[in-house]
Amino acid sequence: MTSPPLSGAPPHPPRITLADFHEAAREVLPTAVLDYLDGGAADERTVRWNAEAYQRLALLPRVLTGTAGVDTRCTLYGTDLPAPVLLAPTAAHGLFHPEAEAATLQGAAAAGALTTVSTFSTLTLEEIGAAATGPWWFQLYVQRDRALTEDLVLRARAAGATALVVTVDTPVTGLRERDLRNGFALPSHGMPANLAGGAAAPGRNPSEPAHGGIHDPRIDPAVSWSDLERLRSVCGLPVLAKGVVRADDARRAAESGIGVWMSNHGGRNLDTAVAPLTALPAVAAAVDGRVPVLVDGGVRRGTDVVKALALGADAVAVGRPYVWGLAADGAEGVTAALSALHRETELALALLGVPDLTALTPDLVGPAW
Ligand code: FNR
Ligand code: LAC
Repeated sequence: MTSPPLSGAPPHPPRITLADFHEAAREVLPTAVLDYLDGGAADERTVRWNAEAYQRLALLPRVLTGTAGVDTRCTLYGTDLPAPVLLAPTAAHGLFHPEAEAATLQGAAAAGALTTVSTFSTLTLEEIGAAATGPWWFQLYVQRDRALTEDLVLRARAAGATALVVTVDTPVTGLRERDLRNGFALPSHGMPANLAGGAAAPGRNPSEPAHGGIHDPRIDPAVSWSDLERLRSVCGLPVLAKGVVRADDARRAAESGIGVWMSNHGGRNLDTAVAPLTALPAVAAAVDGRVPVLVDGGVRRGTDVVKALALGADAVAVGRPYVWGLAADGAEGVTAALSALHRETELALALLGVPDLTALTPDLVGPAW
């Protein structure tokens, strides 16, 4: 017989880092769900590069700056945030926790963070609007049915979304080999909400024949810059393009006043696509401060956050890390994971001798080896 835990002892060792939440999520999630969450496309090189791009950079701290306190606050499209870390959109939170996006939104709001809600949320936009206690944006997959697309955008705005994030890196879904091996597809019960009556997540059902075509019949692969401009005039919200990694695309976005969200979809689509951090200096130069630049993919530490900002990002976003928190501990896990990253960001600033985010400049970063 094992002895009972000492009274007052925590049920698990304290979760301090995002890696701790990853470990906790591993313990609770079924293998196929964990593989869907953690996995990427093909050989998963881009998944690894996203994180390694941060590890390849060293910080060059400045000393004796007389910095007494640090300030991690920033403002994005008029929303004041305590830290420059957003929640990237991830699909079907019902897979990870019974309270689904409601827990995510509540956990994020408790940390003061802004949530980007996926088109493929488990809850409807209206349920999300009712559950939200903090700021949120809506991520759009443009549907071939443009009336449905516009309806989604207007519903999101009516429910309280304050910006529209159009994902532009998924004309087709990547080769998700873990999902194919596991026979995993996003369950219809996990994501009907916003699209009842037709549309679906990108990606073939693994039970379909291998030569069934690469395009989802409902997701529009032929989206253009003018579509983004038109959607902006439909909803009147700021629009960001999510999935930009090239300077010429970033320049095109900035010329139209469209925000640049650098991403390769967490390495889930085009394997061997460049890590956003690697492409950031060229993109930041092309944008030249005209629109916000966000970066996601592989951010796991506060030191990663400050590296991205030093190289020209206005904020970063995380995907998998807050979902690990959600799976492990629901809303509290989301808050704790985001707070860990916030704390680490404050520490990194203090140890760099930098008082606030505007003082993060490229000279603070160099090659690690
Ligand atoms: C995603 N991502 C994503 N992106 C998007 O635009 N719409 C979506 O519905 C989803 N769904 C989704 C599900 C899961 C399980 C993951 C892990 C990712 C991509 C996401 O927004 C973001 O680009 C990456 O997750 C960032 O990389 P990290 O932080 O996970 O390394
Ligand atoms: C994914 C889709 C839903 O990355 O964007 O799984």
